[in-house]
Amino acid sequence: MAQSIWLLTLGFVYLFVMCSTPRQVPPAIVLSPYVEESVLAAQSAAAAEAKAKAAAEAPVQEAVIVKMNPVDLEKGKQIYISTCIRCHNKDPNIKGSIGPELTDAPLEVMQHKVASGRYPDVLPEGFVPKRKTKLMTKFTQHIPDVPSIHAYIQSMKR
Ligand code: HEC
Repeated sequence: MAQSIWLLTLGFVYLFVMCSTPRQVPPAIVLSPYVEESVLAAQSAAAAEAKAKAAAEAPVQEAVIVKMNPVDLEKGKQIYISTCIRCHNKDPNIKGSIGPELTDAPLEVMQHKVASGRYPDVLPEGFVPKRKTKLMTKFTQHIPDVPSIHAYIQSMKR
């Protein structure tokens, strides 16, 4: 009788040690990378949110700050010849080295191209971009004179 109680006790101690020891170890290993990952995820989510917010605010600022200069055909021609024909043709009715013809582009599209290098997200009705590439760079210094550049190009239209 005393022997079997002794054996039972030993058996329980053995079971207790075998069952409890491994259970305590894995949480310590698994938990820390898990916590770090979730912190990282929260940080990158916050960063992405801040970036999206900045992007959403940027165009509004541009629209508020930029004041247009009055239309001046001579000035429009001068900017076109000195800046745009690096890629567009001297004759805006035909395509240039890499830039397409410009006589079909509405003022709104030209403003967006010069301010950002990109087409507007919402295109004017009936306007189809000549190229799907994203090769044009922005020319922010010329934003106030886009009406003059546009008027010059329209004056050259055949
Ligand atoms: C670095 C070369 C380059 C320069 C310089 C450049 N463009 Fe462009 N432009 C392009 C390219 C290439 C496209 C076609 C779309 C694209 O890839 O961005 C384009 C497209 C355009 C379009 C849209 C035309 C259409 O109907 O789809 C307009 C408007 C435009 N450019 C205006 C200008 C004006 C105004 C200037 C001068 C201030 C200028 N570009 C200078 C390369 C240039």
